[in-house]
Amino acid sequence: MQSINSAEIRNSVVSFFLSMAKQPTTIFTCQNCGAQSRKWLGQCTDCGEWNTLVEETYRPPSKQTLPPGIAPLVASPLSYSDIEPQDDSRVSSGIDEFDRVLGGGIVAGSLVLIGGAPGIGKSTIVMQMADKLGRNGTRVLYVTGEESEKQVKMRGERLGVEASNLFLLPETNLNAILAETDKLKPDFLIIDSIQTVYSDQIESSPGSVSQVRDAAAKMMMFAKRTSTPVFLTGHVTKEGSIAGPKTLEHIVDTVLYFEGDRHHNHRVIRAAKNRFGAANEIGVFEMTGTGLRPVANPSEMFLQERPENATGSVVTACMEGTRPLLVEVQALVSSTKFGSGRRMAQGFDQNRTSLLIAVLEKRLGLHLSGEDVFINVAGGIEIDEPAADFGVAAAIMSSFRNQPVPADTVVFGEIGLTGEVRGVLQAEARAREAQALGFKKLILPASNKKGLEKLLGVRVVGVRNLDDAVSELF
Ligand code: TYD
Ligand code: MG
Repeated sequence: MQSINSAEIRNSVVSFFLSMAKQPTTIFTCQNCGAQSRKWLGQCTDCGEWNTLVEETYRPPSKQTLPPGIAPLVASPLSYSDIEPQDDSRVSSGIDEFDRVLGGGIVAGSLVLIGGAPGIGKSTIVMQMADKLGRNGTRVLYVTGEESEKQVKMRGERLGVEASNLFLLPETNLNAILAETDKLKPDFLIIDSIQTVYSDQIESSPGSVSQVRDAAAKMMMFAKRTSTPVFLTGHVTKEGSIAGPKTLEHIVDTVLYFEGDRHHNHRVIRAAKNRFGAANEIGVFEMTGTGLRPVANPSEMFLQERPENATGSVVTACMEGTRPLLVEVQALVSSTKFGSGRRMAQGFDQNRTSLLIAVLEKRLGLHLSGEDVFINVAGGIEIDEPAADFGVAAAIMSSFRNQPVPADTVVFGEIGLTGEVRGVLQAEARAREAQALGFKKLILPASNKKGLEKLLGVRVVGVRNLDDAVSELF
């Protein structure tokens, strides 16, 4: 959120100065975050990405002009208590896991962006949803800008699509799409992908920030005007020539991202922003020969291939939105070939890893400076919760000492700079998930222990600091 705001502020400052100075004819726009600059720069000063600035025609902010004879609409303040509450009539997408990410279903008039790397499953999930909705009598218009209708049909055949109310429109011109939409009056609109849509009133090339933003803004107006839910897909790309979904985050109501990579069978869809539900909620799917299949018990799946009694492997309990999730954290500590050890983390914050290593060195006296430390969260999932600190620290200790942590143990807790193990939110939900999956021992912050002692079949141990933790773990 921070970066978007700063980009917005920056842009308005840039526009202000531009209006003072001689009007330029072109401007350079970062295709990753949308920040603008008068000169070309190798690295965007806002988001730090390299080679993402692209020259575009400068358009001064348009002054709103109304046709003669029409008075401008003026909003006046309303009393809060006079505003009628609106029941958020949600429609199920037909896929439970997906409804969960959306905050309980599809809200009328909402604009949802689904981002992810190419080939990760964006078209697949929207097609499955279109099928489910179309079968229930919802009229769905699927605008396909990337694939021909034949290709979409081929995917549909694999997915077993049978909806009779589903219409395909292979079109990329924004005005043509809007015209067809007005004709068909669908109950549900899909644009796959927003980066292919262009308006001929804008001079910059299709896929550029101005084009993509304009198309998204028009879709927003359409969604709000007609109360039709609109789903956009957007590619996350490494190269800077296409505007990424990040540049649209502030426009749309809900942003969902596919996480993980194509090399794993499972796909995680996470709500990065949601005006109609909890952010950070995740849905877990498995990519099969016949499309994305919801995973009923994600913890079980993430722990499936866990090696028993291996050193450096620890199970920790995270909260993903409102759902607890058990994941395996792996650490590998091995003596370095270079002067000072490397630290690498996948699925966990790199800086947080360095911090935890420093705490382990200082408070427990582990000699880690001459060691390479690699962290990996198994299954390609990303965890960004302080509550996972303890899991990461335990995995590092286990690998360093060459001693496994018993396989039936789950740990969680935040670690402070003095080596204290601090309490975390929703300890009970985490503990219950561990119990449900048959774990026998739970090591958690002492302040979280209250009320959990009587958890059936689980020995719950509270620890105050890393010293206590070591004696409990090994
Ligand atoms: P797709 O939805 O086309 O990706 P995106 O729209 O995000 O670019 O998914 C493409 C990948 O998914 C492709 O590599 C093939 C795989 N896939 C399956 O494994 N099973 C299926 O039933 C389908 C439709 C796709
Ligand atoms: Mg696609």
